[in-house]
Amino acid sequence: MDFLPTAINDYVEAHTRQESGVLQELERETYLKVLMPRMLSGHLQGQVLRMLSQMIQPERILEIGTFTGYSAICLADGLRPGGELHTIDINEELRPMVSSYFEKAGITEKVKYHTGNALDIIPTLDFAFDIVFIDADKENYSNYFDLVIDRIRAGSYIIADNVLWSGKVLDAKPDKDTAAIIAFNDKVQADPRVENVLLPVRDGLMVMRKV
Ligand SMILES: C[S@@+](CC[C@H](N)C(=O)[O-])C[C@H]1O[C@@H](n2cnc3c(N)ncnc32)[C@H](O)[C@@H]1O
Repeated sequence: MDFLPTAINDYVEAHTRQESGVLQELERETYLKVLMPRMLSGHLQGQVLRMLSQMIQPERILEIGTFTGYSAICLADGLRPGGELHTIDINEELRPMVSSYFEKAGITEKVKYHTGNALDIIPTLDFAFDIVFIDADKENYSNYFDLVIDRIRAGSYIIADNVLWSGKVLDAKPDKDTAAIIAFNDKVQADPRVENVLLPVRDGLMVMRKV
């Protein structure tokens, strides 16, 4: 679902920093070769993530849901010198493609790329992350939040993608994934450990700051 009229979306993208050549190539190859290419963050959201990361200047980022690496490359741009980004994906078939784009983007040294189920891997990562980007299976959004919230410091951020779920969060009879997103949004809204703002960027970004 496109929330913005096409002409307005085009205007927004025309007045947003252009993607790097590597990101353009990655997007093209994802659309040519990978199933469900729309999962990739894309131009506007990628630049929003990059800008947020540059504002926060994180030492460590955790990304849950690498896919073809688009958002990881955007987020990594804000890392402090010596910082690192951990990214997790359950799909090992994409590993060669993703690794080649991390290399092209010059971020291989900064990235720890984990293959497996995020629910198993997150508990093994004993780091204080400054940004956690949740962008994997919708039914586990609340579990991912629970796994990280007590392990991040005050002032750290959690960003969750797709929290509007193509507008289905308004459905009277939500399906399973939609119900999980609705439960996640309500849980965040009620949790005194975070301050949150739902940015209606693309499919909705919930930005949370631990207080
Ligand atoms: C929406 S895509 C991520 C898009 C990427 N962050 C971007 O913006 O370009 C979701 C990814 O989560 C992965 N995924 C789904 N369930 C997972 C799980 N339990 N653990 C780790 N990764 C998972 C999928 O394989 C898929 O690549």
